Amino acid sequence: MARLAVALAAGLLLLAVSADASRGRELLQSSKGCPALTVNAVDSYNKAKGTFLDSDCFDQVGTKGSCGSKTGGLCIFSNGQSCFYRARACKPTDSQVLGLFATWNAALKTLNSKTVAALYAPSAVLLPTVSNQYRTTPDEIIDYFDHFLPKGPVGAIDKYEIRHLADGVVQLLGIYTFTMTLQGNAKVQARFSYTYTRQADGKWLIVEHHSSAMPENEAALVMDAFVQWNDALATLNASKVASLYAPTAVLLPTVSDKVRNTPAEIEDYFVSFLKKEPVGVIDNIDGSSPNVRFLAADVAINSGTYVFTLKNDDGTRSKVRARYTYVYKKYGSKYMIEEHHSSVMPETAGKVDE
Ligand SMILES: *[C@@H]1O[C@H](CO)[C@@H](O)[C@H](O)[C@H]1NC(C)=O
Repeated sequence: MARLAVALAAGLLLLAVSADASRGRELLQSSKGCPALTVNAVDSYNKAKGTFLDSDCFDQVGTKGSCGSKTGGLCIFSNGQSCFYRARACKPTDSQVLGLFATWNAALKTLNSKTVAALYAPSAVLLPTVSNQYRTTPDEIIDYFDHFLPKGPVGAIDKYEIRHLADGVVQLLGIYTFTMTLQGNAKVQARFSYTYTRQADGKWLIVEHHSSAMPENEAALVMDAFVQWNDALATLNASKVASLYAPTAVLLPTVSDKVRNTPAEIEDYFVSFLKKEPVGVIDNIDGSSPNVRFLAADVAINSGTYVFTLKNDDGTRSKVRARYTYVYKKYGSKYMIEEHHSSVMPETAGKVDE
């Protein structure tokens, strides 16, 4: 350590740093004495010893004596002297940071929640877009993606900033838009922040990911009301589903003749319907976005088609397509259902081609 400090204090060389954009490595070039450290030099050293990571940078530490015994760096013998370059975690380039997002987005396309969750560090925290739950364990993160991935989300960054907080710590922040490719190509814009840290093996993992709906985007809130309704179905709790209907709501349901206009009648419908363990996906046949329209500042209507997966009496599952109309009214910050009309497809009786 003393030797290292002496070498640094001696200010041996005027150094210039060059970044190799394709590899993200900063390689030192000295004006005299030691040779510039090239990607090739590092790669051939790596082949021999397998020591360095793509995300390593090198600081030139000194030229005195022999550096053969020093660890954590690379020694090159040149012009009769030993040149030592110490490895450290690099500041990643912008393209590397955007590459981390691209990897995450590609993982979404696998529809495998474990593949996505593997991009989060074991200590990661996820504050996701469409769940209130604060998720701090790999299992909780997997659970979130189990619910998110069936929508077929594909993200695109609209706007971003990169902030280097320290060696090995970087943030990517901004706004992204998801296209829900398995949900009628619905688009959802959200704000995001990812904080990544470099792990001991050189890989960058997400330690925090916060994603939130645009607070002023009312159409997204209306779409979110459908997500909440569907999430409530998944709890199989009829009272929870019924709690999403306004006290004055009217329900014209898919599989009951009765017009239901009291909370008790609405809950009663879901007691029977939830026995089929329904899972709904918005699936407008023409592939267009859900038809969210505002009739007033706080009244919105969303209509289209959805496909339900339903459990049959014999335990098998089948799919049925239906038409829906939801009329929502905003109470405080929450859209509640004022009218929900759902009916079987008149020409195909709900048949879904697989
Ligand atoms: C069902 O939902 C209601 C309303 O949200 C809640 O009060 C109740 O505790 C839930 N029941 C169960 C068994 O989770």
